[in-house]
Amino acid sequence: MEPSTTPITREDAGSLDRTLRPERWEEYVGQAKIKENLRILLTAAKGRGHAAEHILLYGPPGLGKTTLAHLIARTLGTTMRTTSGPAIERVGDLAAILTNLSPGDVLFIDEIHRLSKTIEEVLYPAMESGVLDIIIGKGPSARTVQLDLPPFTLVAATTRISLLSAPLRSRFSGGTFRLEFYTDEEIGQILSRSAGLLGVEVPAPVVADIATRARATPRTANYLLKRCRDLAQLEGGALNETIVERTFTLLEVDRLGLGAPDRAVLDVIINKFNGGPVGLTTIAAATGEEQSTIEDVIEPYLIRQGLIERTPRGRVASPAAYSHLQSFSK
Ligand SMILES: Nc1ncnc2c1ncn2[C@@H]1O[C@H](COP(=O)(O)OP(=O)(O)OP(=O)(O)O)[C@@H](O)[C@H]1O
Ligand SMILES: [Mg+2]
Repeated sequence: MEPSTTPITREDAGSLDRTLRPERWEEYVGQAKIKENLRILLTAAKGRGHAAEHILLYGPPGLGKTTLAHLIARTLGTTMRTTSGPAIERVGDLAAILTNLSPGDVLFIDEIHRLSKTIEEVLYPAMESGVLDIIIGKGPSARTVQLDLPPFTLVAATTRISLLSAPLRSRFSGGTFRLEFYTDEEIGQILSRSAGLLGVEVPAPVVADIATRARATPRTANYLLKRCRDLAQLEGGALNETIVERTFTLLEVDRLGLGAPDRAVLDVIINKFNGGPVGLTTIAAATGEEQSTIEDVIEPYLIRQGLIERTPRGRVASPAAYSHLQSFSK
């Protein structure tokens, strides 16, 4: 997805993600239905000795799509090759990736919604029939050469399923899975595991406190935990409720887990446009955020919390949004 100005959702894409990323299904908390469906799909494919069918994962950032892709490859006992929509610029790029796969490999394409139409059209026959159609030459003398590809499993991830064309979507014959936001309890489990890996002791009430502010998102939970750990370390003391409170104040994370960009969106809808409806472009212009950031990162959680609603005429603030902003400004 696009770089975002909301630090809490992006920060830990690097080293922390890797150290805290679950490497076994037992460590992957929540998403029970997806896990069960994948278990059946993958085990059956493996039993038949075939590559598993193609899988599409979608949902807001930081909910565990990339982590699932790794677990899928691990379960199939194959290598995972990773690329992303914007990285595949020319047909030749895709052809090189596909022809270099080993039989049974998992090809992970992140941000698949950013693939160009031309590339998509090359991908269709590759997904469906395991062949690559390459046009050699130009004009009347051009001819199509068909290459057989090694059997592979495409695992694709996106934060924006609505941008995927219907023909592309329909080719994920193994299934399309939507990742859900996590319950506070699940986030608590993730935090406890992460605390263990980071070697910090966090009392249960503090875990619960961080969990309620983590936007129901594992990546954010890990980010907040790490920031609290930093402050505790600087103060040379324990990670207790005071440290957590101070960290949230510093990061401007409120009791619902909203940060400054989230509140700015609510503020624009409520105070500049009388509660809405307001169009996305207007909100973007008024807050200075990218439209894609609002749609991918900010809005899904505000909608989940019942703070805003999407109507055909634009975004509308709910009564809960009014009282939340008020309590915050006091
Ligand atoms: N179900 C889970 N259980 C435990 N930890 C998780 C889970 N899902 C995600 N995480 C943690 O959150 C981090 C972010 O997850 P991941 O990178 O898989 O998200 P993503 O959906 O691919 O996000 P993006 O859309 O930004 O690429 C992981 O590195 C991992 O530490
Ligand atoms: Mg990812």
